[in-house]
Amino acid sequence: MTPTVPSITLNNGIEMPQLGLGVFQMSDQEVLDTIPQALEAGYRLIDTASRYYNEKAVGRAIAETDVPRKELFVTTKLWFKDHGYERTKEAFQVSLDNLGLDYLDLWLVHQPFGDYYGSWRAMEELLDEGLARAIGVSNFFDDRYAGLVAHSRVVPAVNQRETHPLNQQIATQELISLHGTVLQAWAPLGQGSPEILGHRVLTGIAAAHGRTAPQVILRWLVDRGASAVVKSTRAERLRENIDVFGFELTNEEMAQIAALDQQKPGGDFDHRDPRMLELLLTLD
Ligand SMILES: NC(=O)c1ccc[n+]([C@@H]2O[C@H](COP(=O)([O-])OP(=O)(O)OC[C@H]3O[C@@H](n4cnc5c(N)ncnc54)[C@H](OP(=O)(O)O)[C@@H]3O)[C@@H](O)[C@H]2O)c1
Repeated sequence: MTPTVPSITLNNGIEMPQLGLGVFQMSDQEVLDTIPQALEAGYRLIDTASRYYNEKAVGRAIAETDVPRKELFVTTKLWFKDHGYERTKEAFQVSLDNLGLDYLDLWLVHQPFGDYYGSWRAMEELLDEGLARAIGVSNFFDDRYAGLVAHSRVVPAVNQRETHPLNQQIATQELISLHGTVLQAWAPLGQGSPEILGHRVLTGIAAAHGRTAPQVILRWLVDRGASAVVKSTRAERLRENIDVFGFELTNEEMAQIAALDQQKPGGDFDHRDPRMLELLLTLD
């Protein structure tokens, strides 16, 4: 039976599936092959970004499915080189055209660099016009998040951050929850890291339930009230990663996982590191 993914109500009343498919690092062909399999497996949230250069392929896959548009939840992200009020409006139309859609479900500021305040003003207007059903941010550390909240009319619906058992974002989730912002995990499986997927605590909990370490991690995120976007191009893993609602973690198991936190990012973008900015500026 296809699992039904629970939804989370965002701070503007919009319903978002708690688990979704991420298409980072997928080629166009992989997107075209994977999205139908993901939809078949029960995924309804698709997370892309202009910087993934596969929005057009996502759009083609959406155009070809029988799943009604209103059942899908499509997220894309604004790249920081398009920041600023005017450029953001233009970039929105480019993404919308690439995706072949007439509205987005969620639009995220990908990175907190440059004139993201100007971008946010444009995004607030797109929200008012119903062209984006929700707007949010990504990779906003607590200081940048708090600043944006303090100086804006609309509070981000989502903050997408690198979140997995070695980097749990507990304090961040506490902070953003105060404002009704949902923590959405990127790289929930640590990008397939053996250090995480092979961790004896996680494999031990998985064995106790006849499950896998990825399923334990995704269930732990769901139980924390977080959302997660997870990537796989393999049909059996797509099914595995969404089949997390037929078992429950005990309080003791949740505590065992909580004890693994090292606040250790794998590929997080730290805006406080000038070398990170230099690196990003070299990208196209
Ligand atoms: N906002 C941001 O800056 C940002 C940054 C990074 C990612 N993201 C989003 O978050 C999504 C997920 O993050 P991610 O793709 O970096 O990492 P991830 O979902 O944690 O891990 C994906 C990796 O794990 C493997 N994998 C998936 N399911 C598995 C399973 N059940 N067992 C073993 N290995 C498994 C995949 O390989 P196969 O494909 O071969 O199965 C892939 O190599 C992205 O696709 C993207 O949408 C956002």
